[in-house]
Amino acid sequence: MAKKHNSGISIAEQRKTLHKNLNFSASEAYKLLRTNILFSLPDEDKCRIIGVTSSLRGEGKTTTSINLSYTLAEAGKKVLLIDADMRLPSVAKKMEIPAQAGLSNILVNSNDKMGIVFFKTPVNENWHIITSGDIPPNPSELLGSSRMKKLLEVLSSKYDFIIVDLPPVDIVTDALVIAPELDGMIVVVHENMTDRRSINECVRLLRMSEAKVLGFVMTGVKESDSRYYRKYGHTYYSKYYREVPD
Ligand SMILES: Nc1ncnc2c1ncn2[C@@H]1O[C@H](COP(=O)(O)OP(=O)(O)OP(=O)(O)O)[C@@H](O)[C@H]1O
Ligand SMILES: [Mg+2]
Repeated sequence: MAKKHNSGISIAEQRKTLHKNLNFSASEAYKLLRTNILFSLPDEDKCRIIGVTSSLRGEGKTTTSINLSYTLAEAGKKVLLIDADMRLPSVAKKMEIPAQAGLSNILVNSNDKMGIVFFKTPVNENWHIITSGDIPPNPSELLGSSRMKKLLEVLSSKYDFIIVDLPPVDIVTDALVIAPELDGMIVVVHENMTDRRSINECVRLLRMSEAKVLGFVMTGVKESDSRYYRKYGHTYYSKYYREVPD
């Protein structure tokens, strides 16, 4: 029997929406996202750290984080994807890599040495992953710690981009406490799940926490959505906005 993720969709089905398995139109949509990010954060001399969050669970944050990382690595950038959703991690599962010691283990370790454990993806040699590690009792505290800040500083010298997959901002503060350490935040909005009130509240909280909202990725857009169809052809994939949608 096929393995199931908590979304109820089998791993085999999810695989079709990830990195090198993307169809032409979907892959073009992520390339557009990459271009927009390169324009939003053009300083090539420094590592750009980008968080991915949303207002609610299950809107497509991890899928977006994986595909954005892959697309940047395909453009020759050195990319690190960090699974910072220490409450409900899914990067290891989606990438079908071992859920080894990861972020939480690095952060609770009190040694001076960071003991960074990252996974080199077989998909692209420029693309590394730090999994979430063992589930800790206090993810917000860990993400807001000085050790997390130091970790990002150390990693920034090794990568062009760090993509941080975060939990949603609905009930927990994890995405908000780390926001000041990021160069920008992408907000994922699912066409059928998120209402305007939730998006506005999400953006209000992010702005209060000094996050620079780079834009919005809309997921779950159906092929038959004529607005999207006209613009990008036949895909149900992500759409990118620079401003808060009306
Ligand atoms: N752009 C997309 N188009 C179609 N399906 C998608 C898209 N993005 C994600 N999905 C599907 O939606 C489900 C949830 O995606 P994902 O796990 O990426 O969401 P998430 O926001 O990270 O969830 P969580 O809040 O639990 O971490 C998965 O089954 C995934 O395959
Ligand atoms: Mg996720």
